[in-house]
Amino acid sequence: MLKLLYSPASPFARKVRMAAMERQVPLTLEAVRVNPVERNEELALSNPLAKIPVLETPDGPIHDSRVICRFLDRRGEGPSLYSSETADIWEILVLESLADGAMDAAVNLRYELVYRPDEMRWPDWIEAQQARISATLEHLSRRIPQLAALHLGTLATAAALEYLDFRHPDLNWRASWPALSAWMTELAQEEIMQATAYPST
Ligand code: BEZ
Repeated sequence: MLKLLYSPASPFARKVRMAAMERQVPLTLEAVRVNPVERNEELALSNPLAKIPVLETPDGPIHDSRVICRFLDRRGEGPSLYSSETADIWEILVLESLADGAMDAAVNLRYELVYRPDEMRWPDWIEAQQARISATLEHLSRRIPQLAALHLGTLATAAALEYLDFRHPDLNWRASWPALSAWMTELAQEEIMQATAYPST
């Protein structure tokens, strides 16, 4: 059996859970505590970076989310998530990489706002994360035709956008990119989105 060490709030873990569902690969889920300033030594036994997600397999642990998705895709039945009528393999991988970058910036921003003491805040750094997110959303908003079918780039984009809704509603990204917002609203009806939704807090 495959066990995923994850957090229900992690966008990277959400991408993995969506990929597993779509490829019909059963996973056991184990929530682990993650905190950017307190290393989880137990998690570090599986990943020296002490980061989630980690997939525990009979042959040992696999990480990070991109590697896990490749692994699950190989295990799955039916069409690969790295092949699509709307995007070639390089477009899919670049879309995934961009969405992962936006997730990274959004998680950094979350950590900055939640964990860093007020007097140590650095507005230029916060602005730089927001700029990375905005530039990526602008780019993605021009790639909606490539996002018209389910592939890894689609899953990563959806996990990133709903993470922004979840943790950064103040950024109000939907107002600035209405076509991307409409795309997200439609995809949000799919079972893989609803079954993996972020928690309410
Ligand atoms: C969050 O609470 O936003 C979060 C938790 C784990 C990983 C990434 C983000």
